[in-house]
Amino acid sequence: MKRRKLIICWAALQAASSILTCLLLLLTQHPAAAGIVPPPWSDPAKNPCASMAGGWQLLYWTPLKKCFKIFTLGFPCPDTMELSPSPISAKRKDVPAAECRCPPGTALSPLTDACHALYERGPCPHGEYFQPLPEQTKRADNRWGSCKRQLQCDEGMLFWPRDGKCYPNHSKGPCIRGKLLMRNEDGLAECRCHPFGELGEFYYSVEDSCYEHYTKGPCSTPGHIFLPGGRCDCQRHLPHYYAPQQMCFELDTPGPCPPGHIFRIPDDVDANPEANTLQLLPHAKCLCKEGYVPWSDGLCYRLYTRGPCAANEFLVNATTCVRNFCGKNRLYFPTEDSCYRIGSQGPCSLHQVVVFDFTARPSLDGISYNGMCGCSGVLTNLDQQCAASNEQEKSICEATPGMVEMNGQCHKLYTRGPCGAGQWLEPLKTLPSNNSTMLLGYGSRAKCVCRPGYTPAETDHGGTHNCSAPSVSLARYLTIERHNSKFFSELHPPLS
Ligand SMILES: *[C@@H]1O[C@H](CO)[C@@H](O)[C@H](O)[C@H]1NC(C)=O
Ligand SMILES: *[C@@H]1O[C@H](CO)[C@@H](O)[C@H](O)[C@H]1NC(C)=O
Ligand SMILES: *[C@@H]1O[C@H](CO)[C@@H](O)[C@H](O)[C@H]1NC(C)=O
Ligand SMILES: *[C@@H]1O[C@H](CO)[C@@H](O)[C@H](O)[C@H]1NC(C)=O
Ligand SMILES: *[C@@H]1O[C@H](CO)[C@@H](O)[C@H](O)[C@H]1NC(C)=O
Repeated sequence: MKRRKLIICWAALQAASSILTCLLLLLTQHPAAAGIVPPPWSDPAKNPCASMAGGWQLLYWTPLKKCFKIFTLGFPCPDTMELSPSPISAKRKDVPAAECRCPPGTALSPLTDACHALYERGPCPHGEYFQPLPEQTKRADNRWGSCKRQLQCDEGMLFWPRDGKCYPNHSKGPCIRGKLLMRNEDGLAECRCHPFGELGEFYYSVEDSCYEHYTKGPCSTPGHIFLPGGRCDCQRHLPHYYAPQQMCFELDTPGPCPPGHIFRIPDDVDANPEANTLQLLPHAKCLCKEGYVPWSDGLCYRLYTRGPCAANEFLVNATTCVRNFCGKNRLYFPTEDSCYRIGSQGPCSLHQVVVFDFTARPSLDGISYNGMCGCSGVLTNLDQQCAASNEQEKSICEATPGMVEMNGQCHKLYTRGPCGAGQWLEPLKTLPSNNSTMLLGYGSRAKCVCRPGYTPAETDHGGTHNCSAPSVSLARYLTIERHNSKFFSELHPPLS
């Protein structure tokens, strides 16, 4: 394995890539057994170009009997396609080593016979976007897309097709740091930043980037927030002003507050409905987070955790610690003032069982002794009615977010679990139906898929098959790396 990495490393150096890449490769520990294998197209038997100098980056194009650089866009492929190594197939041994495919992030449109970027307008009418079609049968050699009308969002919100959610106009939303959402000429949401037009007021010229107002944004001086006018400052009249430190902080963040608090405008102040300017709002304060109580040491602690209490005690109100009278495997229900065994029906309604409070974060607050009702089955409506499950004793596994039951065993999502090499467990995507049903558990609703970057390998032995290491993505990476190598050598002058 080490030797293979070194070979790829050597190839990378040949490609005038930086030594950094190699170090990264050598240091990376791949959890899957597969590791990095030589790219299949480096086999001269399959790829006549492989024996030429730099051949590992060349693919043989049968129609012209010539070698072309891997991932070349256009000729010999159609304009929008790139030359890609063919997936290895056990059935078809003598397939050409190369084929034309749409580059990643694009798909083929039957309307234009060309590749178009996904989630953009592409070949579609104004207001529609180009969406990927679900992968068809295995023989499909290219990814196809189709046009879809975007979902209608509430006033002032924009639809983001990639995750199907609505985000406020001019918010950061799903964008990278320094960009904000706006509607583009195609009528679709796009992450942008420019010093003119509707984003002008969010523009920060020092960094050529855009930020939401009243957030920390680009401000490096502690206590400054990003204000209209595109500058970092702090002003006394703002609700964000914290007098004890004479600094400003973003609202609804920990801000200047001690642990367990949040910096927030108190709910109980009479906000003058006429006064929608920030100037007339009261100052924010450090308040206990929801579900937390203030303790005499000045901090806030989450109820029903140990908090400031002695070992084997938990906090029941702002003044009192009690012995954990529930005992092992039982959780406390404050409204009933009783304890119930985990996984039992307890005080819960039909098809629900007693589960841990999954809103608590043990790393932050310690273990919570608070019990909740969770579905023993799979689907539940927003009104907490659980759907009947065929197996009544679906177990606590299914009721625990992030866990799935497969073949009678409980597995964590996004780990290998019962899957083959190079794979992990992913939840099956279930579209929320129109009557507010939502997926709370994953009841056997996960499947083994290739980890990101891994590609399906060879044949399928009845469900569990293996995925091969990201050699293709690696080659792609190195190709890009080569383009960037000038940049790299400027950053890291060659070692003498
Ligand atoms: C976003 O805000 C700009 C400027 O306020 C406005 O012109 C535009 O219509 C808004 N877009 C949406 C979708 O609300
Ligand atoms: C806190 O809980 C204890 C024990 O249940 C009770 O005696 C006390 O009155 C409670 N204090 C407050 C302020 O609710
Ligand atoms: C899949 O990987 C397992 C080990 O993880 C190995 O025993 C098996 O032969 C592999 N199957 C294929 C088809 O490569
Ligand atoms: C919900 O979906 C059903 C079909 O699944 C459809 O008949 C019904 O009209 C939809 N209701 C609403 C309010 O969209
Ligand atoms: C919608 O809700 C009804 C009950 O109101 C339920 O019978 C039906 O199964 C739900 N539809 C879906 C698609 O979940």
